[in-house]
Amino acid sequence: MAKPIVSYKDVHKSFGDVKVLTGIDLDIQPAEKVAVIGPSGSGKTTIIRMLMTLEEPTSGDIIVDGENLWKMEKSGKMVRANEKHLREVRGDIGMVFQHFNLFPHMTILENCMTALTNVKKVDKETAKKDSIDMLEKVGLGDHVEKYPQQLSGGQKQRVAMARALVMKPKVMLFDEVTSALDPELVGEVLEVIRDIAKEGEMAMVLVTHEMDFALDIADKVLFLDGGVIAEQGTPQEVIENPENERLQDFLHRFNR
Ligand SMILES: Nc1ncnc2c1ncn2[C@@H]1O[C@H](COP(=O)(O)OP(=O)(O)OP(=O)(O)O)[C@@H](O)[C@H]1O
Ligand SMILES: [Mg+2]
Repeated sequence: MAKPIVSYKDVHKSFGDVKVLTGIDLDIQPAEKVAVIGPSGSGKTTIIRMLMTLEEPTSGDIIVDGENLWKMEKSGKMVRANEKHLREVRGDIGMVFQHFNLFPHMTILENCMTALTNVKKVDKETAKKDSIDMLEKVGLGDHVEKYPQQLSGGQKQRVAMARALVMKPKVMLFDEVTSALDPELVGEVLEVIRDIAKEGEMAMVLVTHEMDFALDIADKVLFLDGGVIAEQGTPQEVIENPENERLQDFLHRFNR
């Protein structure tokens, strides 16, 4: 098997006395599409926030493309990573959030360009061209000069996606990106994710309650429960033929 693009090795995470994750071991292969399901509070968001460097593991290692994300070598010892190390290793990771997190005072185009020019130091002309191309790809070519408040929720979420994609991450994280949307807007956002998934080369981790969608695009589904990955396998194994009793109960809530 190819070298994983991301590995979690015995990762634990507590908030104060509350142990949220108690030993996560997970390999994500380049181009693999991983869906994460599980009850509210099971730690789905926490798993991907640690990879985005928004939350520090309590113990264990997260390896991105061969580099330890949260630790670095200093005088022959592994020590806590500094900001520079985190920024460098995180450069391969992109994330789309439930609540878009667009900058309200910037146009759609500026929202897309800002990380390219400020973080990646891409020149303005190239950043503009790449951003327009990406906005066209998510169906927003006619809206580049608008501001976020002039768009629908589904359009805003597609801007958030274009903004993350234009950075060309090797791994894209999606945290319930359709759950804040009106039902009639969910389809257009899932359609864009499906298109990106079909293109191939990027690994994707999707926290989702859309079971049909997970069945359609995921190579692997993880069921998170009780602080661990309680079951994992192909979508057919996990969603259509679940063995774990708590997983069966969980899926019943989605009429499965
Ligand atoms: N910054 C934080 N401080 C304290 N507790 C936190 C923090 N972030 C998450 N938690 C707690 O950790 C647990 C897991 O949270 P997390 O958001 O990862 O769950 P989730 O599976 O994404 O849930 P949901 O489906 O509701 O989004 C919850 O009990 C939550 O209250
Ligand atoms: Mg969550």
